[in-house]
This record gives sequence, structure tokens and C-alpha cells, in this order.
Amino acid sequence: MRITDTSDLWWKSAVIYCLDVATFLDYDDDGVGDFAGLAHRIDYLQELGVTCLWLMPFYPSPGGDDGYDVSEYYGIRRELGDLGDFVEMIRMAEDRGIRVIVDLVVNHTSDQHPWFTAARSDPESPYRDFYVWRDRTPRTKEQNEFPDVEDGIWSYDEKAEQYYQHRFYSFQPDLNVTNPAVRDAVAKIMGFWLQLGVSGFRVDAVPFLIDHSGAEDAPGALDDPLDFLKSLRAFLGRRSGDAMMLGEANIPHDEQVAYFGGSDGDGLTMQFDFVANQQMYLALARQDPTPLVEALKARPDIAIESQWANFVRNHDELTLDKLSESERDEVFDAFAPEPEMRFHGRGITRRLPPMLGGDPRRVRMAYSLMFSLPGTPVLYYGEEIGMGENPDLDDRTGVRTPMQWTNEAGGGFSHAPRRKLVRPVTEGAYGPEHVNATDQRHDDDSMLNFMKRIIERYRASAEMGWGQCEVYDHDAPTVLAHTLTGEEGRMLALHNFAPEPATVTLALEGMEHGSTLVDLLVNDRTMSYDGDGTITIPLDGYDYRWLRVLPAETKRLG
Ligand code: GLC
Repeated sequence: MRITDTSDLWWKSAVIYCLDVATFLDYDDDGVGDFAGLAHRIDYLQELGVTCLWLMPFYPSPGGDDGYDVSEYYGIRRELGDLGDFVEMIRMAEDRGIRVIVDLVVNHTSDQHPWFTAARSDPESPYRDFYVWRDRTPRTKEQNEFPDVEDGIWSYDEKAEQYYQHRFYSFQPDLNVTNPAVRDAVAKIMGFWLQLGVSGFRVDAVPFLIDHSGAEDAPGALDDPLDFLKSLRAFLGRRSGDAMMLGEANIPHDEQVAYFGGSDGDGLTMQFDFVANQQMYLALARQDPTPLVEALKARPDIAIESQWANFVRNHDELTLDKLSESERDEVFDAFAPEPEMRFHGRGITRRLPPMLGGDPRRVRMAYSLMFSLPGTPVLYYGEEIGMGENPDLDDRTGVRTPMQWTNEAGGGFSHAPRRKLVRPVTEGAYGPEHVNATDQRHDDDSMLNFMKRIIERYRASAEMGWGQCEVYDHDAPTVLAHTLTGEEGRMLALHNFAPEPATVTLALEGMEHGSTLVDLLVNDRTMSYDGDGTITIPLDGYDYRWLRVLPAETKRLG
């Protein structure tokens, strides 16, 4: 028997689910979600088919950037529980075959972190050099990540009598990674959480984290800033054989190769594919898969242990910064017509179902598409039931509302009085009375059951995470036809981006006489290939198909 490494490189066929403990389930009814609540929903997550949780920051924090401003790396925010609750949750997840990765936010700390307090108060403090200081600001002004709020990346600190660097909000001073003591501190944080049982990290803001600019000659600077990522990956390997790092790096594809560690694959284990994500939205807006096809074709080759992470939405704005201005306008016109649906001119603050006018066929087509792209799917909580955003909340918080479990007014998230809730529950057409997990569990045609089926099929089709992708030319311009081929076998995926029906005729190379095409998503829809060289498949508007290609003599289940 051949030993396969599909389980060793578990992240290549994982189903990752991102959630914020604070908005998931409030077990003690104080208005804020907690680890006890999450522990009580591990069975739900197992039922859904999730294999890896990504927990957004749960560390002590003043909360200025929703926890991405950490004031203590070795703790848990009090309202969420304590380290004991964390370990209990990890233990339960492990028992259900679910791994846990946690957000590693070390490009910056909160300005309330004791390192920064010490740094600004005393130039002689060993922590002074943990941050990036200047007597004068550089002449060329760099744009802050939140340009509508922050004027540049330098702020003057009265106490320190110097300027400090911050790529994000001014209460998030950047750590100085040219200082070896900072790099060690980062590894130590990782070591701590690994010891508590996590399987890796979602690494926040990677391009800024490794940035050495302006300090290339600092005594501890690395010759190649990417070596920092490699050293963290090596540390991860020493401490835990199969932990991984999933990097947030919204950079062009060709630059991502080096972040992966090139053909050695010794850098970030996984990276989100922001380029394909943005091109996917352009394709959805145009009802034409071409932009996405081009992005997939342009994806560089990566090492076998490296992997792309695909997603529809995440907890941030839907960034469209890699599109041209006119392309961005097309997506804005289609999916965010009102100015308040946009973020800093570069993104959209909505969830997918409202963007697609709530059309369930189109929404399902988009998720079917995302799961079928070569790589590992990452879901954001609430996507499995088709939650919408709360348009009354500012900026990115509209997509961070409490999870909707039941049809009660509070969505079953908490029984605390409304005014005590960490965030208001969405109301209206996407409110809990219309969109909730309980009702959907008992409805065979629900979004939740669609998602369960797609996850089950994804997990039983290793060629999707591992295989080679080939996009087929054909004469139906609104349809994407691609195959994924791996050692396990082959799958043909068809997605119609338009509301009108379409018929696709394909010449599937290498398809054996007498093969069967088994529909993995709809029962009793099997086709046989009679061997004339082509196959013709009719599709409804916004239709999607996953067809397992079974040669006559196969041992694979259909
Ligand atoms: C990442 C996070 C985002 C946060 C920023 C600063 O982009 O996803 O939510 O605001 O980093 O930490």
C-alpha cells in the first residue's frame, strides 16, 4: 500500500472556518460570546464538516480594532473566559477531529501593551527598540491603511518626544522586527499557543510585519526580511511537526511565491489568494468567468506542501484594491451601489447574499465555485446560513454581527438585554426570524444543508485540494468548466455565471470509453460517456455541477 500524505499535509484538504469567540455564542448571557459558548457549538461545527477553526483575536485588548490591537499575548480577554476554558475548547475540538489555529497579530501591538508603555516612558528601556521611532518623519509620505482616519504612518508621542510608526491606526504602534529580541518574542508567543494545543496561526498583515524599509542597516536587520518568515516556519516545525502558518498577504501573485519560500516551500504554509478573490467578484459582476480564469491561469506554481486559501468573504471589507479603477467601479456598481456600502474607496462592507440580491441560486453557485477552485476553502461564520450584514453599523463591523442560531430577536446568541450585546443582531430581511441555523437544520433545501453537502463532497474529493486544475475552452461564454485531477481521480466542475440557461459541449481529454459522470451534488443525475469525443451538458441559469469522472474499472465510490 502506498502511504499518502494527504493527512500529513492536512491543510491541503481542510475546511477552515473563521469565527470571533465574542460574537459566536454567549453562554453566560453577559452579552459577549465566550469560549464556553464555542465549546457548546463544537458539535454543530463537526456536523457542518469543518476540520479547522481559525479564531480571530481573543487576547486582552482595548478593542479599538476589534481585538487586532493586542495588549497581552499570553492571555484571554476576561469576558471570553480564561486559559482553562481555552484548553477545554481545544480538547473538545480535537476529540471531534477539528484543529484550531489562532490569529497571530504581531505587526503591531496596542499602545496599551506594557512593551509600548515602557518604550515611550524611557529611552533606556530595553523595550524602546521594540518599536520604530524617528526624530523626524520621512519626507515621502506613505499612505496609512486607513487613509480616511489616519494621516500617514507616523504619529508624534509627547512622552517619548519622537515619532513612532503605525501602518494601521495610531493606537497600533508597529513592532520593530529588525530587532532580534522582537523576533524572539514573536517565536515565544507562538511556542506558548502551540503548547496549549493549537495547530498553527493565521498571520496578520504579513507584508508589513516583515517590512524592514528605512531600517535595512539596523544592527539586527536581516539580509532578507523573508528569512524572518522562514525562521518562524522552522521554529513551528521544531515545536510541532504538522502546524501551519496561513498568511494574510494581499500582494500580487508573483510576490507571493517568495512568501511561500519558493520551490522549497519553507515560508508561509498557506496564503489567501486575494487576487483570485477580487477577479471572482469582477467575474460575478460581468456574468463572465474570464477574469477569474485569467487569475487562475496566472497563479504561479508552488511547492507541494504550500497551498492557496480561497474565500468568498472575510471579517474585513471586501478589498478590491488589485482591480483597475474602472473594474472596481463595475464591481461597486453591481454589488455596492450606495456610498455607505463602501470602505475607504477600495472595498465593500457587505456580506455576499445581500450583494447578490438574495438570489439563493446565485449565492450557492458562488460558494460551489469557491469550493471547487484549486486550494483550501475558508468560510467566515454565518456564511453557511447565508447571513447578511447590518447596514446600520459602521465600516467593517456590519459583517461582524452575532451568529444567528434561532429565530428569537437576539438570534439565540445571548439572552442578555439588547443594550448589553457586544454588537446589535442584524434586523430585517436577513434578521434571525428569516436566517438562522436551527430552522435551516430542519429544512432539507436550506443553505446550511447545501453547505453541509458541499463540504462532505469536498472532503471526499482530495483532487480538489491537491489536484491539477485545467480550464476548458468551449462555446458557452458565461460558463466556467474546469477539471481537477489528482491521484484519487478526477472531477469536472461547471459554473454558470449568468441567469440564462446555457449548454456546454466539452472535449474531455483522456476520458475513457464507458466512463460515468456522477453528479456529487444532486442525487440520481448520472451521465455516461458514450465515447464520441465530446460531452454535452445543459445548465440552468446560475447552475453549478460537480461531476466525478469514474472510469469503467474504478474502485472509487460514485
Ligand atoms: C488585518 C486584519 C484587520 C486589521 C488589520 C490590522 O488586515 O484582518 O481586521 O484591522 O490587520 O491588524
